[in-house]
Order: sequence, then C-alpha cells, then structure tokens
Amino acid sequence: MTGTTSAPAKIILLGEHAVVYNQPAIAVPVSSLRVTATISHEDAPFQIVLRDLDNQIINFEHHNNPIMQMVKAICAELGASPPPVKITVRSTIPIASGLGSGAAISTAIARAVCRAVGETLSNERLNALVYDVETFYHGTPSGIDNTVIVYEQPVYFVRNQPIESIRNASPLTFIVADTGIKAPTHISVGDVRKLVEQDPVHINPIIETIGDIVQQARQCIENGDTKQLGQLMNRNHAYLQQLTVSSTELDTLVDVATQAGALGAKLSGGGRGGNMIALVSHDDIDQQDRVQTALNAAGAVRVFKTTVEATKITS
Ligand code: PMV
Repeated sequence: MTGTTSAPAKIILLGEHAVVYNQPAIAVPVSSLRVTATISHEDAPFQIVLRDLDNQIINFEHHNNPIMQMVKAICAELGASPPPVKITVRSTIPIASGLGSGAAISTAIARAVCRAVGETLSNERLNALVYDVETFYHGTPSGIDNTVIVYEQPVYFVRNQPIESIRNASPLTFIVADTGIKAPTHISVGDVRKLVEQDPVHINPIIETIGDIVQQARQCIENGDTKQLGQLMNRNHAYLQQLTVSSTELDTLVDVATQAGALGAKLSGGGRGGNMIALVSHDDIDQQDRVQTALNAAGAVRVFKTTVEATKITS
C-alpha cells in the first residue's frame, strides 16, 4: 500500500524536568509543524530517504540507527518483514530544539511501515514502541513527548500512569521563540539528576512545587483562566531557573515577551537552549504582534504562533 502518514510537533506547557520525578506535566501538539512519511513502491530493498537531512538514505546496513530500530520494532510487533518500499521523510519541525522532532519522525515512519504492510496498530502499542526508540536518543525519557505526539491531543501526563486528556475551555494561543541554541535534553536531565542527588533537601521541594503549579494550571486551562495560567508559567520558569536549566538567552526572551505584554512566559522542554513559549490573549492580535516583534528584535532565530483550540464538548 502507498500513501502518506504523519505526526505533529509538540510543546511542553508546564512541568518539564519535574515530570522525570513523577510529577505531572502538560503538553500540547503543534499540528501546523509536521513530519510526513510518503510510501512509494520500488523494486528494491526497503529504504528510508530523509529529504531534509541532505537526502540521507537509511537502510538495513544502518543497524544501530534509531530510525532502523523503529522499523525493526514495528516489523517485529506486526510479525511482518520490511516491505519493498521507499519511505520519503520530510519535516517542517526544527531539529534538537525541544519540539519533539525525533519522536515525530519515529511515529510517522512507524505509521508508514504499518500502512505499507496493510496493518494497523493501536495508538497505545505505537506509543510504547516509540517510547522504546526514544530511549536511544534520551536515555530515560519520561514519555511525555511520544505520548502527546502519538495521540495528537493536549495531555496531562504523569509517568507510568494512564494518559489523561485536558478539556481546554477556551483557545490558548502561544508565541514560540527559538534561541537557536541546540541543547541536548539528556545533558540538562542528567544535571538535574546530579542536583537531586547532591542536594535533595533543597531540590525535592522545588520539584514538588512545580507539580503543584501544573495541577493549578490544569484547572486554569479547564476553566479558561488564561491570566492565572500566565502567572503560573512565570512561576514555573523561575523554578526551572533554580534547577539550572534556563540560560541567559532563554531568560532574555522570557523577559522580553513579558515586557511586550504576554500573559506569561517560560522555557519549554529540556532548556539551556531550544525554545521558549509565551502565552498571549487569543483575541488580542495587537498584543500577539507586539510579542512576536519583540522576540524577533531580541534575536530569536525563529518565532511562530500556535493555537490550541478549545475542546469540543460532545455529549
Ligand atoms: O527537550 P524536550 O522537548 O524533548 O523535553 C524534554 C522534557 C524533559 O522533561 C526535560 C525530559 C523528559 O523526558 O520528560
């Protein structure tokens, strides 16, 4: 079977790092940025072409490549052999900037392999397999990235717990700005672990407080209280600074966004580089423009707007 499969980017709204220590976190998909995987029939052995990575070709000679690990895991799950197809992968998700490009690539490719062999796989199984592959990149990820990307819906995520979706009462609009600094998540996660081990008396309460902030944020999202949500994002950022995962560049962008009128701002994801997010009023286009302009002027290498629509209530 031919066709195209895809998976979205994601942003973590609150709770990163604390989520590694079993606290809740909230993440949403960014459906406008996607990885697509297009299947074409070739009379040749299975191969994957990464269009946006210099047309790099990946096949079964690349045993240790995480992408091939994904293909092998899916084939093993389906009891199928790799089909004689070419899968062309394209992506509009920036790499290594906390937008989940790795998990989105794995998810889109896994779906393409399923489609090529004419099988379907539940999101639950797919999520577990993508998580396994994420461990190649990140060591021991919490699982939030793969979960929000596979299910493509806002999630309230607690490690090793069933997924809880969030019903947002009103649309949430964020301005996302990239520092342009590539910062591997496993390093910031490892540094936080060192802090936890060296100074648990001081660090554990910070992690627990971030968990409380996330619980309050969930209520704000479900009640449509965006003002209070912005305040909680600011507080979350301050605690992430104490965990040493912010940076001068991230702090500058957070300050600039707040001064330009954002309701709240914080780093998003692993930190030290990558992206920050600013919550803006959904109906105030002038405010959104001011925040975007200020972030561009402050040196962000990429600035975009994303909206999480209000949840449709079906009864
Ligand atoms: O850097 P990202 O966007 O992949 O986010 C990592 C989130 C952390 O909480 C820092 C790590 C994790 O595994 O949850």
